[in-house]
Amino acid sequence: MMDAPRWCEEFDLVEGNTLRLPSRARWLVHAATAQQVVAVVDESRARNLELWVLGEGSNVVLPPRLETVVLHSIDERIEADAGRHDCVDVRVGAGVHWDRLVHWAAERGLWGIENLAYIPGSAGAAPVQNIGAYGQELAGTCLRVEAVERSSGRIQTLERDECGFGYRDSRFRREPTGWVITALELRLSRAGCPVLDYPGIAATLAELNLVGDVPMDMVRAITMLRRRKLPDPQSLPNAGSFFKNPVVSEAEFRRLHADHPELPGTVVPEGVKLSAAWMIDRCGWRGLRRGGVGVAPSHALVLVHYGGADGSELLALADDIRTSVRQRFGVELEQEPLVPQSR
Ligand code: EPU
Repeated sequence: MMDAPRWCEEFDLVEGNTLRLPSRARWLVHAATAQQVVAVVDESRARNLELWVLGEGSNVVLPPRLETVVLHSIDERIEADAGRHDCVDVRVGAGVHWDRLVHWAAERGLWGIENLAYIPGSAGAAPVQNIGAYGQELAGTCLRVEAVERSSGRIQTLERDECGFGYRDSRFRREPTGWVITALELRLSRAGCPVLDYPGIAATLAELNLVGDVPMDMVRAITMLRRRKLPDPQSLPNAGSFFKNPVVSEAEFRRLHADHPELPGTVVPEGVKLSAAWMIDRCGWRGLRRGGVGVAPSHALVLVHYGGADGSELLALADDIRTSVRQRFGVELEQEPLVPQSR
């Protein structure tokens, strides 16, 4: 018989978010299976309580108080099928720590997610913002997502095409009260080749005396690159990139480039992707500290919490950064971490 999910009252979430912002939830519920998620969705509806899904809290700005039910997956199963000569399909529970999955795959010589090494967070959160780094993104390997549809309380399987993946975006992000992701299915390749295009990868491999012909080489190099560039949330609490890289039209890029010839721009199908970090840096924000919050000294895209602040102080800083980038470059920045709404 299925155990009932565990409901904890007045749960302290300071350890449950990588910004270490003070936050307390009216209810926290751990769910180990999709059936348990259905039970929580049904019970929340019956009790007229709002629901918020929290993974490892690496991409959220929590308010001091959440009157909602906070649902947290503890499904940590990784299950591979028998595989074919060239690929293996892997079912990953929403509660699996993402970097554990990256290592699991690389240790078995499986390609497809090695450049996504050392990204904080859970597998269940990965499709929400279609995590991406160093030339790979989740959408490249994701076959389908299993999720509970909150309106019907039914377990559904959404094929990749139904997930609406985009740059740091998906249907799950656009429909924040629509779904609770319970598992992913990825197709990993036995015979992949390394993605080496992103600046710094080749040099880091060389520095480590690695060739990059096995996925684990890539995991080692990417982990070192990220460790050097991005502050470790354990020592300086943060939520990774705080803004998306904005995409503008080619005409807009030409205008910006005339005034700022060094502004990095990458051509993407939708236009030209600009570097938010570069613009924030040029506005003088990198390393700046204001009260208990600030901008990381090593990377202008990362806002940090030195301690003693709450979510509203961080959001006020983010607002000021957005305003100065708008005034100086005429470009609008979109925030990446989600902000749960509470009554
Ligand atoms: N730059 C600055 N100042 C800074 C940091 C960077 O001028 O303080 C310049 C760099 O010189 C470079 C450009 O900005 O020309 C881009 O920097 P970087 O290579 O660090 O990449 P990014 O575009 O800022 C994105 C992702 C990161 C991911 C890296 C590598 C977004 C919003 N962020 O950052 O994701 O690790 O590429 O692929 O797309 C995360 O989501 O937490 C994250 C770190």
